[in-house]
Amino acid sequence: MKTRVFHPQGGEKEIKEAAEIIRSGGLLGIPTETVYGLGADALNEEAVLHIFEAKGRPQDNPLIIHVPEAGWLPRYCREIPDTAYLLAEKFWPGPLTMILPRREIVPLRTTGGLETVGVRCPDHDVTRAIIAAADVPIAAPSGNTSGRPSPTSASDMLEDMDGKIDGIMDGGACQVGVESTIIDLTVQPPRLLRPGGLPLEALEEVLGQVTVDKAVTQKLQDGEKPRAPGMKYRHYAPKAPVTVVLGEGCRSAAYIRLQAQKGCGVICFDEFAELFYDCVLHCLGPEEDRAEQARRVFDSLRTFDNTPVTEIYAQCPDDRGLGLAVGNRLKKAAGFHVVDADKLPRIVIGITGGTGSGKTSALQALRRLGGTIIDCDAVYHRELATNSALRRDITRAFGDVFDGEKLNRQKLGNLVFTDPDALRQLNEIVYCHLLPVIRQKAEGHLLVGLDAINLFESGLSAFCTETVAVLAPTEDRVQRIMQRDSIPEEYARLRIGAQPTDAYYQARCSHILYNRASSPETFTAQAEEIFRQWILEDMKHE
Ligand code: TXA
Ligand code: MG
Repeated sequence: MKTRVFHPQGGEKEIKEAAEIIRSGGLLGIPTETVYGLGADALNEEAVLHIFEAKGRPQDNPLIIHVPEAGWLPRYCREIPDTAYLLAEKFWPGPLTMILPRREIVPLRTTGGLETVGVRCPDHDVTRAIIAAADVPIAAPSGNTSGRPSPTSASDMLEDMDGKIDGIMDGGACQVGVESTIIDLTVQPPRLLRPGGLPLEALEEVLGQVTVDKAVTQKLQDGEKPRAPGMKYRHYAPKAPVTVVLGEGCRSAAYIRLQAQKGCGVICFDEFAELFYDCVLHCLGPEEDRAEQARRVFDSLRTFDNTPVTEIYAQCPDDRGLGLAVGNRLKKAAGFHVVDADKLPRIVIGITGGTGSGKTSALQALRRLGGTIIDCDAVYHRELATNSALRRDITRAFGDVFDGEKLNRQKLGNLVFTDPDALRQLNEIVYCHLLPVIRQKAEGHLLVGLDAINLFESGLSAFCTETVAVLAPTEDRVQRIMQRDSIPEEYARLRIGAQPTDAYYQARCSHILYNRASSPETFTAQAEEIFRQWILEDMKHE
């Protein structure tokens, strides 16, 4: 069969001819605001049978019928509650399907043997015009082969259906991108059977309490029956297994970065794209833009099958608004294999070490693993400038060591560097004021690197799950400092001599990173792999 492609620009004539396919019992691809549908005359059993055949869809999975206006409801449904008209008035045409008792005229073939029928009025002028012209409701499941992602453009649909259907109306890209929300109005309270393009919150505003069917959020046990038969089938699954990672964007991103090897498939929010430079990447849209995520979610699942990826990790929005539908499609693709990054304990790696050892390269490695770096020295200086309680405590302990707003370093240094007790006291004061700031900066992150020269002296090591010293051979350090700071060799040696010895760090740190690499880039790459191993090991023990 040759599939004819219709274009709305063709006007009335194209619409009439497309409607004629429906009237004569054929199959027509129809654009809607949600996804493309595979349409046929809902009242014609023979035509409806062809839908099931073209899709490879199990016969017990009912079809929804599409009408051009709410006025058609009583033609096909009985016992229509006022709330149905209220919902239609508010949300039709739009991404909402209502389940109501069917009239005899709607064949059991269409409803998969059920005494109820799903009805919706799509928000697409061309499709409503075709239905009106055909003067019969159009039964239309999503226009994909069963088990594949729903098509959101005519070309997506032709990928699955070219040659199997009589025609398709190319109505452009779908504006919503996920299927309609399905609400069962035959029960009290009404029950959400499938989250979709209309947020649950919008329904609750009209209906009050709404029950969310278990199949929306959980994998059903063997033998358990969902109320929307279609929810029991494993839908939208790419060939490679999918893991959905819930939680705050920067936490889920860090979790995925730790797990995903080079060449892995990753679905992420736009903000984290750079982190996955070596993966096969699909951006879902900005973290807070759920409408954009809905538009892209099926595309992101669809395209992996043309790539060699063997596993896929996906960031996932929370359940608010369209997030419920986006998350549901991702979780179904994952067979509900879900990790919640918000429930994983935070990993804080304190990094210290003498000047010229390669601390900066090690921090870069943590950044590449999705870590957030807190520069403790910078925090200290900002607090000194802005935190009057800190300045007050320093003044109480050491007298007036400030010139106006500015700390007189030399004055304070003279006091504390000659007296170990005074130094300890200063460290305690600073610690008390720094810790809350650092805690707050670490909030919401899964992996944090503390850049702290005085990691142990300051007491900040207590906030760390791991403490790492970066050490390097003295001769390498001398060369690096001379180059970096343009200072003579003698002076470089003096600076190194004034710092703690390797033994000092070895006695205190949980890990030592020894930098013998020939370049900073090589050391960063080595450190990245070592950190990854340590962190994954840590996660295993939690
Ligand atoms: O946005 C949409 O709803 C798209 C476009 C084309 O309109 N259509 C769509 O149809 O997604 P389909 O067949 O892929 O999904 C319809 C879902 C299935 O899970 C089916 O089991 C459920 O609705 N359903 C249909 N009639 C039902 C009924 N009477 N009771 C319970 N669930 C029903
Ligand atoms: Mg479908």
